[in-house]
Amino acid sequence: MDENDVSLSTATRSLLDEIGEMEKDALTELDGISSGQELEEFRTRYLGRKGLLTKVLRRLGELPQEERSAVGQRANALRRKLEEEITRRNQTLRREALARTLEREQLDVTLPGLPFRRGTLHPLTLALREIVDIFAGMGFSVFESREVETDEMNFVLLNIPPGHPARDMQATFYVNPEVVLRTQTSPGQIRGMRTYQGRLPVRFVVPGRVYRRDPADVSHHPVFHQIEGIAVDRDISFPNLVWVLEEFARRFFGPDTRFRLCPSYFPFTEPSAQMDVSCIICRGKGCSVCKYSGWLEVAGAGMVHPVVLRNGGYDPTEVTGFAFGMGLERLAMLKLGIDDIRLFYSCDTRFLRQFA
Ligand code: PHE
Repeated sequence: MDENDVSLSTATRSLLDEIGEMEKDALTELDGISSGQELEEFRTRYLGRKGLLTKVLRRLGELPQEERSAVGQRANALRRKLEEEITRRNQTLRREALARTLEREQLDVTLPGLPFRRGTLHPLTLALREIVDIFAGMGFSVFESREVETDEMNFVLLNIPPGHPARDMQATFYVNPEVVLRTQTSPGQIRGMRTYQGRLPVRFVVPGRVYRRDPADVSHHPVFHQIEGIAVDRDISFPNLVWVLEEFARRFFGPDTRFRLCPSYFPFTEPSAQMDVSCIICRGKGCSVCKYSGWLEVAGAGMVHPVVLRNGGYDPTEVTGFAFGMGLERLAMLKLGIDDIRLFYSCDTRFLRQFA
């Protein structure tokens, strides 16, 4: 059946004619389509519910009864053909798009992946964990005290009244005349002792940040860390302190570390001492780190002053105690061979990564 068949009615012939024209137009149009979106618009325009082909089918009713089905078949054949052509065009478009992407991106999936860099614990964290572990092994628990402290706790209750020359040893950040950033972990001795409420034995360490108004240089930093330790009981004596410090030094620095105690002065201990270890860098021969003495100071220590015991709620006629305070950075620098304290605070991952 075609539009030139003179046996057909004029209406049918003209409709067939339109279908033929539509087919030609559609196929030409399809050739020019270059995107998925255009293709969708094309589909709607021809095959949609209000599309051109649907309109043609609606007009079947105007044709003589016996000619309708043949025209309907012709229209449906065109629908199928257009659907196939659309699918084919769609595949071509996608293939072309892929080819363009591959051309542009040049991705070599056989290259090895980028290594995923894992974070590491800060060397001070590592050192502190080890130190706390050593003291825990000797029966010390951990007491965390506060960083913003009263002048009274940081000084007065530690036997350093206003105007005491020992205040000069610790350049202090004052928040206001009564409140300071703690210059030492020693106020933790009092706060810690008070939580024991007179019970014995008292045995704890206080790790934490301390603040001093010192300009930063190779061995000073306005923020650093200390680990305080205190033990109070009946019959605690100086040799107990010596044993604990010696045991700590051997465990932390190794069994061959030599150490010595020298007389020193702190208002809150009596007698007072300082512990030196043989310089880890030059092994005692003398170098710039130990200022050519062969020794490095790592801790202040002594027997807890009776005034401090009393301020902590203990009777100095019944109990005695020892205390010590160590600089965490100093200990970590010696153990890890780090020659500048500022590196700990530099946030330089090249430095930090080394201690994984
Ligand atoms: N608090 C002292 C300091 O910062 C160290 C210390 C602690 C000394 C405990 C004796 C006893 O220098």
